Amino acid sequence: HPIAILISGRGSNMRALIEACRSPDFPARIALVISNQADALGLDLAREAGLPVLAIPHRPFGRDREAHERAIDAALREAGVETVCLAGYMRVLTPFLVDAWAGKMLNIHPSLLPHFPGMHTHEAALAAGVAEHGCTVHLVTAGVDAGPILAQASVPVHPSDTPEGLAARVLEQEHALYPETLARFLRGELPVADHDSNVEAERN
Ligand code: GRF
Repeated sequence: HPIAILISGRGSNMRALIEACRSPDFPARIALVISNQADALGLDLAREAGLPVLAIPHRPFGRDREAHERAIDAALREAGVETVCLAGYMRVLTPFLVDAWAGKMLNIHPSLLPHFPGMHTHEAALAAGVAEHGCTVHLVTAGVDAGPILAQASVPVHPSDTPEGLAARVLEQEHALYPETLARFLRGELPVADHDSNVEAERN
């Protein structure tokens, strides 16, 4: 099953997916890695892994976010991609790309959604004083970090935690959760039919 990974930076979740795809019984192969940042560290990682990579910077498109996404969409189609994994892709998507890949685009978010959507989730979790924090893999819909949840992993929060320490504890879980959830999703083991019918219902 051909997938693409969209990144903007470090690419450690991408690396976890690359490693998982090396296992012969993993149900995905990486057809393309795209970054909107030409100097993303993750792009070097992907190149070293011998994967097809593309930098599609958003800057030349100015305020036309959809034009940038049309370029991404064209590259995904050209590469024969069937499922898209956002992995630290730091642009909010317009309805164009969200609709084009409805039910076929996953994201990993560093909190136990619906708690702490958006940025700075570890700071927010510490400020809220929660005892549990974690990460979520979800389908991408128009609302930011609001799509149907596919899987979550949690970690304890310690009173002495710093945002950095907590982030590291969560990241370790992300690296296990994303490949595992992608595999279950592609094998049809997760209930996504509901999502598709919701999408249809919303449009009707
Ligand atoms: C991860 O915490 C991910 O959950 C969030 O952005 C971070 C990306 O890290 N969306 P990396 O680029 O995968 O190392």
